[in-house]
This record gives sequence, structure tokens and C-alpha cells, in this order.
Amino acid sequence: MQITSLEQYHNEYQKSLENPEAFWGDIAKQFTWKQKWTKTLEWNFEEPKVKWFIDGKFNITENAIDRHLPAKANKTAFIWEPNSVDAEHRIITYQNLHDEVCKLANTLKSLGIKKGDRVCIYMPMIPEAVFAMLACARIGAVHSVVFAGFSASALSGRIQDSDCKIVLTTDGAYRGVKDIPIKAVVDEALEVCLSVKNVLVYKHTNTPITLQDGRDLIWQDVVSKAANTCEPELMDSEDVLFILYTSGSTGKPKGVVHTCGGYMVYTCYTFQNVFQMDSSVSSLPEGEMPKAERELFWCTADVGWITGHSYIAYGPLLAGASAVLFEGVPTFPDAGRFWRVIDKYKVTHFYTAPTAIRALEAAGLDFVKPYKLDSLKVLGSVGEPINEEAWHWYNKNIGKEKCPIVDTWWQTETGGILISALAGVTPTKPSFATLPMPGIQPLLVDEKGNEILGNNVEGNLCIKFPWPSMIRTTYGDHDRCKKEYFSTYPGLYFTGDGCRRDENGFYRITGRVDDVMNISGHRIGTAEVESAINAHADVVESAVVGYPHDIKGQGIYAYVIVPSTTKDHETLKKEIIAEVNKIIGPIAKPDKIQIVSGLPKTRSGKIMRRILRKVAEGDVSNLGDTSTLLDPTVVDEIVKGKL
Ligand code: PRX
Repeated sequence: MQITSLEQYHNEYQKSLENPEAFWGDIAKQFTWKQKWTKTLEWNFEEPKVKWFIDGKFNITENAIDRHLPAKANKTAFIWEPNSVDAEHRIITYQNLHDEVCKLANTLKSLGIKKGDRVCIYMPMIPEAVFAMLACARIGAVHSVVFAGFSASALSGRIQDSDCKIVLTTDGAYRGVKDIPIKAVVDEALEVCLSVKNVLVYKHTNTPITLQDGRDLIWQDVVSKAANTCEPELMDSEDVLFILYTSGSTGKPKGVVHTCGGYMVYTCYTFQNVFQMDSSVSSLPEGEMPKAERELFWCTADVGWITGHSYIAYGPLLAGASAVLFEGVPTFPDAGRFWRVIDKYKVTHFYTAPTAIRALEAAGLDFVKPYKLDSLKVLGSVGEPINEEAWHWYNKNIGKEKCPIVDTWWQTETGGILISALAGVTPTKPSFATLPMPGIQPLLVDEKGNEILGNNVEGNLCIKFPWPSMIRTTYGDHDRCKKEYFSTYPGLYFTGDGCRRDENGFYRITGRVDDVMNISGHRIGTAEVESAINAHADVVESAVVGYPHDIKGQGIYAYVIVPSTTKDHETLKKEIIAEVNKIIGPIAKPDKIQIVSGLPKTRSGKIMRRILRKVAEGDVSNLGDTSTLLDPTVVDEIVKGKL
């Protein structure tokens, strides 16, 4: 399955174009199937309908865990690095993983959870969060992981949208110096969630909690009594594996649905090829620290995002690799934490986000110098465009100019990496994701949907042919999936990203072209933030745009109308931020709030965001044509008041 030369990459790519079904069929054969698929692919991008490995029957956990047993029973699946440098790390072998997943799976069954039921996971980065995902997959339940930094209101919205029956959570979470009361957030969220029958609480921080009689159970009490074997549920390739909520250009976050077969095949294939880990030597016997010749992967994402799903939980396990799971934050106890962990465990493959790289660059080289970082072989970047400066800093100071940097472009909806270099195999170029993975057919289109041919061109990025791990639907609302991704350019999957193709055919993602912002690598819809701001009693209307931010990539700039408030503006701004924290969570709080008396609107009432973006970017010299505005004088006021 592993491509090892540039020539082979081109051959494989060609094969995938000429006969995608044979290409993916060949890759899929390497997994354990209880029943082979009868047809590899059925699709149309009109409905849309996409099915891969039709009638194939299997269980993804059998492939991610049991397939590696007994040969790799004592191999490390995860090394867990806790938030505090003084706390003990944990090593989870493949056998431990099997046992813990089975025990939890049996517990879920005993609580009445069946195939197809939705399970909400709201947990910090501890091994139990991964056990929870896999336990669901083991019994065919559908997991919906919600990032534990989201507020009670955001959590309840997600639980309600997919009618989750149970919530798996912890008493609290450590994040840097903070001790966050997670269970209390769940309690608040559940006040409006009627579908939830049980809450299983893993005691992690010993934060005091209240248990609701008949609903809440302590994880350790029940799971320890469960049996450590559990027959995997037989799943169809197109049965739902998980739902993951993400922001779109309109309305509430939507539940992106991924199914079992295609997701398994694609995440494993991309993990192996992009990162080029040598699984054969990646065997860390129980209790043993990694030696330099062994390989260890570390993806710093949270399991609450797609990166954590595909390249912490599923991809590495399907490939039988060893990985680090990190509870903390990059700047605690200081900005050398990542580098310290790399040296401590001898991490060989390190995958993080540009926002973290920029923050650690800003902290200064004094935090890097104490560490050798000589175990590193491959570096990765994900989540947002990486600017050239950050790329060079990463390359020079972390990779010591000897580690290829794979800039991996993909999305929650794509399930796995679509455009990226293959480490050490295909060329890299600063700030370019470079070439599509085999099986991926990208194209650039103009505003009208005409394909832009040739090189040295720029346009909107679409994909014209299905790949195994692509979104199947948005939970409970297929029409929304169609509108959001398949209607802008009929017959194509539209990514929402702008993109350049250089003279060599390398792709560079330039950022979102819709009303979605990318704040520290987190996707947030402008509409979502506006509706949270508008929930403040004094706010009549608001408009939110992204603006360039040195560390976060993009910051949130909010224009807010508060006509009759008696409060001073500083108090008001604090209240607005608190409102956004409450409704969405701290990741969505505006960096700048400008109080305005009006917004630039066309005569038909549409806000001209182009103008607001330019002002927020500080580029007010050429605001373009403002003659179609209902009241052009608001623009002068906005420019004068710019923050
Ligand atoms: O704009 C692109 C940006 O992140 C968006 C997807 O966000 P999300 O679904 O949260 O998934 C993030 C992790 C895969 C994309 O539409 N993005 C992601 N990776 C890159 C990127 N932009 C530029 N370069 C990347 N490598």
C-alpha cells in the first residue's frame, strides 16, 4: 500500500484516474472483511449519492485493533502525555486497547445502546476518549464527538440535532493552568435534551460533581465489571460510523456523516502514504520508551476535530502504528512543551497546526534550544494555510532542515487528506499543499463554474470524482448537504476554498471564499458568531468578518449596532464576548468589536461584506464601488472608527 518513489506516485495516480474502482478495490483488499463487497462504487453528485464497497461487511475496530493481535499485543498503541509535567504518563498497548474498548462496548450495550444509536462524546484528551469512539464503532453505535471547549448551549444543540441517547464525559479537564468543570457543562446542556437517558462520567480530575439519580453513572464503577471481549457488530460499508459537527456558511453547524468502509480504507491509506511511517519497526514493547530507530507519530489535534478522528484515532491504529496522545496545550508549563515531549518519547513524525507553529515561533528560540529534536524525521501541517515565514521557521528550527514538511490540505467533509506531499517521496514547496493524493481529481473553476485549465492559475477548488471517505450526507438533512457542497457548481464537490495552481501543477490553498472563517485552524461560520452576538439584549444587528491575525491566521472582527444602550462601550464589549462564550465557546469570541450606527447594505438589504472585510484588514484606500449602497455615509463612519 505504500508508495515509495516519485515515479510510483505518478503511476499510482494514473491508475487511480484510469480505473478508480480497480485502484481502490486493490487497496481495500488488504483489510479484514467478513463479506467482500459486490460492487466497488456507485455515485452521482446530483442527489448526491456516493457508495463505496457496496455490500461489504466488516467492523472497523477489528481492523484497527484485533487484526494486530496477537502479533502486536505488547506494542504501544498510545503513549498518553498528561497536561501536567509532573503527572505520570500512560502506555496503552494494542492488547490494553482491545480490552478497554471491549469493556466499554459491553457497558454501552448493557445500558441499552444498540447499532445505529447516537452517542455523544464530550471529553478531554485522555485515552478514554479514543476508547469511547472505538467502543461505539465496536457495537455499531454512531459517535458524535463534541470538542470539550464548546459551551453548554453548543453541546445541547449538537446532542439534540442527532438525538443522542447517552453522553460520555469526565468530571473535569485540565488545560494548561485551567481545571475545567466538564460535567457541569454537560448538566447544563442536558436541561434541554430529552433524548439522553444516561451519562457515563470518567473520573479524571476529581472535580466535585453532582450525579443525577437514575441517569448518571461513574465510568470506573461500571466499566471495571464488564467483560473484556466483545464480538464486533457486523457493519455494512455504508453504515454510519460517525457524525462530526462543523460550521458552514449559513445557519447552525451541520453534522457531517461518514460511513464505515470508505473511511477505513482512505484514512489508513493516506496515513501510510503521507507520513511514510515504517510500521514494521514501529514496535514499542510494553513499558518501554521509544528508541531512536523506532517510529512514533504525534498529531497534536484534539479528538473533537476531524484531524483527531482520522489521524489520532483511526488512521494510525488501522496502520498498526504507535502514537502520542497529549492532554495539554503547547504553552504549558512553557512554550517548550511540544519540543520537550518530542525529546522525551523520541517522536519521529510530528503533525501540528500553523497557528501553534506561529505562537511558538513568537515565544522565541530560547524555548527550542534546550531540546535536541534529533528523533524527528517528518513534520506535518494542517488546518489552515501555512505562511512562508512559519514554514521556514518550522523547517529550520524544528526539522533542522532534514525533515520533509507535509502540508496536508483537507476538511471535515473529506474525511482524510486530499492534497499533500508524501514525505520524502514527492517534492515539497513552502506554503503549498502540492499534489493530490492518488484517487483525488481536483479542478479549479471560475465564478461561473467553468474549469480553469493549465498552470499558473487561480480559482475555486472543486473535486470532480468521489473518493472513499467523502461526506455522505449532513445528518437529518440531505438537502443541506446538496445545497452546501454540490449545488454551487453542479456535478462537482465544492470545497469552499480558493486555490492557486503553480507552474508545476502544485496546489496552494489560499483560504475560504465563503462566509466561513478559520480561527487558529478552527472553522467558524460568520453567521453563527453573529447570531450569538445578536442574542445580547442591547444588540440590534451585527456583521462579522475575518481579518489577518499574526498568530491565529484569522481573527474575528465584529461590527455591532447598539442604538439605545446606556452602557459604556467597554462594558458592552465584555458582555458581548461573554455572550459568545456562552452560546458557542471561547474559540469564537471576537478579537475586535467596533460599535457602529449602521452597516453598509445594498438597496435590497444585503450587507456588503467586501467593504467590512477591507476595513477590518486595514485596507481602506480602495473600497470599490459603494454607489449601490442604501446609505454610503455609513462607510465613512466605519472607516473613521476602525480599530
Ligand atoms: O480552508 C481549509 C482549511 O481548513 C478548512 C477545513 O476545516 P476543517 O473542516 O475544520 O478541517 C480542518 C482539518 C483538516 C479547509 O476548507 N485547511 C485545512 N488544511 C489546510 C487548510 N488550508 C490551507 N492549507 C491546509 N493544509
